[in-house]
Order: sequence, then C-alpha cells, then structure tokens
Amino acid sequence: MLKMSIIYHSETGNTEKMATLIKEGALQVPGVEVILMEVAKLDRTALEESKVILFGSPTYYGTMSWQMKKCMDTLPVKVEGKLGAPFASAAWPGGGGYELTEMALIQGMLIRGMLVYSGGVVTGRPPTHFGAVSHRAPEGFDADRCRKLGENLARKGRDLFNH
Ligand SMILES: Cc1cc2nc3c(=O)[nH]c(=O)nc-3n(C[C@H](O)[C@H](O)[C@H](O)COP(=O)(O)O)c2cc1C
Repeated sequence: MLKMSIIYHSETGNTEKMATLIKEGALQVPGVEVILMEVAKLDRTALEESKVILFGSPTYYGTMSWQMKKCMDTLPVKVEGKLGAPFASAAWPGGGGYELTEMALIQGMLIRGMLVYSGGVVTGRPPTHFGAVSHRAPEGFDADRCRKLGENLARKGRDLFNH
C-alpha cells in the first residue's frame, strides 16, 4: 500500500477543498492510502510512512501563507527522497500569484531533498503544469485539475517506489 499525505493550510476552506479533491483523484489508483493533514495538526507517523507528500497553501501576498512557511521551516520528519507536489488557491487568477506560491513550495521541497512531480502536460487533460491551482473554491476545471494531480502523484509514487 502506497501512503500519501496531503498537508494543507486553509482559513476559509478553499485550499482544504482542493486537498479533498486531490485525495479523491489519488484514490482512483488502486493500492493507495491518503491522509489529509491540516498544517497545525501534523501526523508525524503518517508523514514518516508516506512516500508521497503534497503541500497546499492559499496565496498570501503572492506567496505561501506564513502558516505553511512555518510548516516548511519546522517539518518534524526527514522527507529526502520522497515524492512531492504543490497546490495553491488565490482570490485573483492572472496576477494574484498562485503560481508563485507553488514555486515557493517547490523551492522548499527541493531544498529538503524531495523529488518534485506534477505530470505537467504529458499525462492527458487537464494539464497540471506546476501542480494544481484554484481560483477561490475549486469548481469545474480547477476541481478536475486537483483530481488529476492526485491521480498523477499516486501513479508516479507507485511506479517509483514499487508499491
Ligand atoms: C492575508 C491574505 C493575503 C492574501 N493575498 C492574496 C494575494 O496576494 N493574491 C490573491 O490572489 N489572493 C490573496 N488572498 C486571498 C486568498 O489567497 C484566497 O481567498 C484563498 O483561496 C484562501 O484560501 P483558504 O480558503 O484555503 O483560506 C489573500 C488572503 C489573505 C487572508
């Protein structure tokens, strides 16, 4: 069984809903268990056992929230060699900065030695580019992209770790 953890910060529910949809997509792949984790309530054991960890944040001033930054700075487990991907929500698409939030999350993952993957534009539609983004609450295309990211990470995790 491949374990995946999804860490998210969410004050008004948008990023949390993204996390739920990513879980839904991942569970389309057999042999996968998904644990959702609010940023202030990290499950250390689940994180240690997870080969795949996703990080999701709302966009605050064009980058990740301070709550997610604190999580990155103080993550209580070694994540070297684990597979990761980012997701982000924002109020304003086309300039509000959700891709910058994703890039900041990717920086954190790389610096901690994680392998970063999204599936990009090569795993079919919808494309996932840097991860999954959503304009406020994920609906329609944004929701499909969250599910796709979950599925992509589950498939790649199973391939990479022989689960
Ligand atoms: C302090 C603060 C700063 C924000 N900065 C931005 C921003 O720079 N760009 C943007 O598009 N939205 C910004 N927003 C809006 C949130 O990113 C957006 O509402 C997000 O979907 C909230 O996610 P949540 O429901 O998971 O908390 C900001 C919100 C707050 C509270």
